[in-house]
Amino acid sequence: MPPAASPLAYVPFVSVENMMRLVHQHGVEPFLVGLADAIEEDYSRWEIFEKAPRLASHSREGVIELMPTSDGETYSFKYVNGHPSNTAKGYQTVAALGLLARVDTGYPVMLSEMTLLTALRTAATSAMVARYLAPSGSQVMAMIGNGAQAEFQALAMKAVIGIAEIRLYDIDPQATRKAAHNLADSGLRVISCASAEEAIEGAQIVTTCTADKAYATILTDNMVGQGIHINAIGGDCPGKTELHKDILSRAATFVEFEPQTRIEGEIQQMPEDYPVTEFFQVVRGDAAGRSDPRQITLFDSVGFAIEDFSALRFVHAKLQDTDYFLELDILADPDEPRDLFGMLQRARP
Ligand SMILES: NC(=O)c1ccc[n+]([C@@H]2O[C@H](COP(=O)([O-])OP(=O)(O)OC[C@H]3O[C@@H](n4cnc5c(N)ncnc54)[C@H](O)[C@@H]3O)[C@@H](O)[C@H]2O)c1
Repeated sequence: MPPAASPLAYVPFVSVENMMRLVHQHGVEPFLVGLADAIEEDYSRWEIFEKAPRLASHSREGVIELMPTSDGETYSFKYVNGHPSNTAKGYQTVAALGLLARVDTGYPVMLSEMTLLTALRTAATSAMVARYLAPSGSQVMAMIGNGAQAEFQALAMKAVIGIAEIRLYDIDPQATRKAAHNLADSGLRVISCASAEEAIEGAQIVTTCTADKAYATILTDNMVGQGIHINAIGGDCPGKTELHKDILSRAATFVEFEPQTRIEGEIQQMPEDYPVTEFFQVVRGDAAGRSDPRQITLFDSVGFAIEDFSALRFVHAKLQDTDYFLELDILADPDEPRDLFGMLQRARP
């Protein structure tokens, strides 16, 4: 029996089970509001972060991505996939895990599941952005694509923006039934629709959150009237978009990190000089958000590393004084730092 690992070897690990407990300890909606605030805070100090388009490994079926960033004190990265054909095989489209580390020593301080946390942070980001871009007093959201992300998006918009009605549509009615069932006691009026056109009737916010590795046209130009905020989540990879490009010609478009979104977002369909606003400028008050009630605003969301950093630091802070983590023996910790081989001998039979 080898001796137990020494204290520096252990890194807190937030399992899926513990993430679920943590979220429910706070309540899903308060958790989403707290997360939206944490993301907004990091958007307001955007310039100090290291930023680069994520490193993507593409295959016929999907993509695997690494998303690193640092604020100079803390470093994070997320491993995440995007495989639209996965659900037919019983796997999820998106699964993720992430790590937070100290910059001064390079030692990890937390490892976490991030499949749930990605859904939470994506929804919190959508709602935080809608604070600035959605028509004031927005009450109704259309939710096109009722898969894994859908309920999180609905609840974040309820908690942060105050929407009262969600209009669901998915090409697969089973997905809509699932989402309607999960939202039944949410306090939202839930309307299941038979088409995307029906779903967007009367909506001030339209969220597209579909998964298809194609230049899809979930929304066509004639479907989008004035005074709408489009929260486009699903177009997040080269060759994978959701909006007809004529909509982009009429919209004021906001992005996370322009160099990444030019590659991955809806704007990959547009010329290089198509104008966009990086959203941190709106948070900082350096650029306008919605400037006219009749405007069409578009958040061309692809997901950026800083949002994952915010989510991981938010969870890390919430872990204090809880037992919602396991201590994993992840780091080799020799008695003397250079005696790694000597440490190996601890387990010699
Ligand atoms: N922007 C971000 O930060 C971010 C974060 C997470 C996920 N995503 C993307 O969001 C999308 C949805 O993710 P998910 O985890 O909910 O996937 P999912 O596979 O669980 O759900 C996708 C749903 O879209 C539906 N769909 C496909 N084509 C459609 C169409 N033409 N009209 C209506 N519905 C259609 C499917 O039937 C399915 O129910 C994915 O493309 C994913 O890559 C983006």
